[in-house]
Amino acid sequence: MNDFQSIIKETAALVEEALDGFLPSQAGPLGRVADAMRWGALDGGKRLRPFLAIAAADMFDCPRTRSVRVGCAVEMIHCYSLIHDDLPAMDDADLRRGRPSVHKKFDDATAILAGDALLTQAFEILAEEETHPDGALRYRIALELARASGKEGMVGGQMIDIYAEEKDFDLAGVTQLQRLKTGALIRFSALGGGIVGGGSEDDLAALTAYAEDLGLAFQIVDDILDATQDAETLGKPAGQDAEMDKATFIKLLGMDGAKSKAAELVDRCKAHLERFGDSAAPLKGAADFVFERKS
Ligand code: IPE
Ligand code: IPE
Ligand code: MG
Ligand code: MG
Ligand code: MG
Repeated sequence: MNDFQSIIKETAALVEEALDGFLPSQAGPLGRVADAMRWGALDGGKRLRPFLAIAAADMFDCPRTRSVRVGCAVEMIHCYSLIHDDLPAMDDADLRRGRPSVHKKFDDATAILAGDALLTQAFEILAEEETHPDGALRYRIALELARASGKEGMVGGQMIDIYAEEKDFDLAGVTQLQRLKTGALIRFSALGGGIVGGGSEDDLAALTAYAEDLGLAFQIVDDILDATQDAETLGKPAGQDAEMDKATFIKLLGMDGAKSKAAELVDRCKAHLERFGDSAAPLKGAADFVFERKS
């Protein structure tokens, strides 16, 4: 196993354990939403975003107890975005992470509420003192995550994605869509890790530049996989983008063009990490993983 593989295995296990603690099952009337939150957030996914947060923080010798909390917060937002993305009103997807999506297992109302509750709890975790003793630093992390998640971030990207089904987009338009839809949370992941670790402004700028290129590459590869893999490999429906006429790089550049664009971004993102020397090996490994992954 290379650095990346062993560290993502380790960080995914830490995140799983922490999420399990943050999302207990409960008896009584709230049991249903608690169970739906667990269904949507536990036991699945690559956990790439928490990996980025933890690996970035590791470069500054940040205690894992802190960076895991930042990782859990962004993973909760990500899981909420997937739960809502799969709803009939959006992508209408029955399968997620190899099992029924939350609205299939429960119902639409429960899926909406479970997503809302994960979104809110992410900020609760960030606000708590265990995330970092310095309140100003906690505030900055929460501010960055709020910006990455909302109208100027993931939510805005999802809005354009839906609208794009009825409109022709040029390269600049698709780039903007993907930067918001997927890039914003990936950008936050590395940046949030850098902030909780106490990185300098120059460090944070380098991490941001890295994650912006990585995030765009990540969504291009997601679109390539949607067009080339089957549902069993992906753990989610395949071929949905063409069916729904989504705006993707493949639609504009063709399959080969999209692949070379992703490869170019992956090379470029690694170059932003030079200032960190060997300590950036895990983050560089993540870039190769994003390009080579099959699901
Ligand atoms: C899927 O994200 C949704 C996109 C933003 C493309 P991931 O591919 O990271 O999904 P999981 O978390 O591993 O299931
Ligand atoms: C959704 O993009 C990204 C989110 C913000 C959830 P996709 O619709 O392409 O994600 P998948 O392919 O369903 O995972
Ligand atoms: Mg979608
Ligand atoms: Mg989808
Ligand atoms: Mg997709």
